[in-house]
Amino acid sequence: MSTWDTLSSLAWLVEAGADESIQDSPSNRLMPDGVHGNEPRANSAPVDRREVSSKSDRPPLIRSGIGTAVPNTEEAHLSAAASQNLNQLRLAVETFDGCGLKRTAMNTVFADGNPRADLMLVGEAPGAEEDRKGVPFVGAAGHLLDRMLAAIDRDRTSAYISNILFWRPPGNRNPTNEEIALCLPFVQRHIALVRPRVLVLVGGIAAKTLLSRSEGITRLRGKWYKYCPDDSGVPVDATAVFHPAFLLRKGHQKRETWQDLVSIRARLADRKVLEEDI
Ligand code: URA
Repeated sequence: MSTWDTLSSLAWLVEAGADESIQDSPSNRLMPDGVHGNEPRANSAPVDRREVSSKSDRPPLIRSGIGTAVPNTEEAHLSAAASQNLNQLRLAVETFDGCGLKRTAMNTVFADGNPRADLMLVGEAPGAEEDRKGVPFVGAAGHLLDRMLAAIDRDRTSAYISNILFWRPPGNRNPTNEEIALCLPFVQRHIALVRPRVLVLVGGIAAKTLLSRSEGITRLRGKWYKYCPDDSGVPVDATAVFHPAFLLRKGHQKRETWQDLVSIRARLADRKVLEEDI
């Protein structure tokens, strides 16, 4: 193969989202299970969970009445509901094999910050840096999120941060509806267990998913919603803000974001005053 061919194959792979190597040596996916590259794998070698597994490992897709496939989220629902605390939920997410993203990700990215804080933020999905470190919002967007928090006198000791997806979509592509549906039971349980006073949905994917709305973030931000994470009927105050990655690209939305942050700070302060009065 010429250098030009090699470069254009590489460009094609990057374009398709394969922008990171996940193994030290190539793996021949056409060979039967247990054969790795050209060498048979020793029985004692640890199984690499990032490898593409056989079809039978994946949750079955259910055919809906109109012929479209919907993911079988039953296992996710059962496993999330059985988690009685955050440690159990983290373990449930880490051992859940139903979402294909786990096979290409390096780490499960569960949460960061203080789970006892009255403020919880939910973003979209881990990026490359988050995937490498297993911690949400630690790349460029994360640094801006930290500055947004600092503007309302918060940091990761006084806020709790997670995402809609626990694994990085390859090449940072948009998550599919199926991937979101498979993670959603865990996210809902996550919010129910933390039960923050104020929930901030960071970006359009988090806002649309948790508010069950079809509008974009421009329409959803700047308002307050009641979000019910469980069957208790007791809602959590929720709002949506522009994603910091979007703000890094389109700086002119920073004024609206400042207004949103002031509103979040006021809502948190209101709650404190109410509590002190009781
Ligand atoms: N963007 C997100 O939505 N979440 C992260 O953790 C990082 C970037």
